[in-house]
Amino acid sequence: MAADDASLEALGTYALRFVKPGHTVGLGTGRAASAFIRALGASGIQVRGVPTSAPAEELARSVGIPIITLAEAGKIDTDVDGADEVDSRLNLIKGYGGALVREKIVAASSRRLVVLVGYEKIVKRLGDRGSLPVEVVPFGLPLVSAKIKAMGMKPRVRENAGKEFITDNGNLILDCAVKPIANAARLDRELLAIPGVVGTGLFIGMVDIVLIAEASGKIRALKR
Ligand code: A5P
Repeated sequence: MAADDASLEALGTYALRFVKPGHTVGLGTGRAASAFIRALGASGIQVRGVPTSAPAEELARSVGIPIITLAEAGKIDTDVDGADEVDSRLNLIKGYGGALVREKIVAASSRRLVVLVGYEKIVKRLGDRGSLPVEVVPFGLPLVSAKIKAMGMKPRVRENAGKEFITDNGNLILDCAVKPIANAARLDRELLAIPGVVGTGLFIGMVDIVLIAEASGKIRALKR
């Protein structure tokens, strides 16, 4: 079971309390982040958005949120995004939607990262859901795949409708089958050290607040 659309809409509306008029806001990718983008558009709060993907930009424009580039924004006030896994230290796995690199750049450019998830995303250990996305420069694919296999993971090139999935940055995604990860920060460093790896879905020490849509319909907040 997973949080339903109504719960995610409620989460998106709840997150509006972290946004003030005049703010620049990071606009995440995925179902939960989209619920926030729709709520922000409907709220009429005057902000400027920095999207983390082409779909986030398209949605934001469609609900009337003015878009600026990261260069124009400089520092972002609040970034609101989803996640695929959240552990008890508020570390994340992201990227099942393929936007992990821009999501991490926007998160790292923000004063505050607010993450919206359904209860099914809360895990004991990162890796519990079995997959870690890694973005790879196409030229480097043979090397990166071999290194990742040698590290004990099983990488698979992501496909979409029978074709290789290409990120907004023109790269490939390797979905790495993983077991629960003992030391996520070390794994992140090891993956980033492979030439051709652009970024990983591990978000370590970046989150300030996680808002969880519980099965009961309540919203629970976890703060760093
Ligand atoms: C996009 O690349 C991802 O990191 C998403 O933020 C993440 O997959 C969560 O998406 P949902 O809210 O759709 O589950």
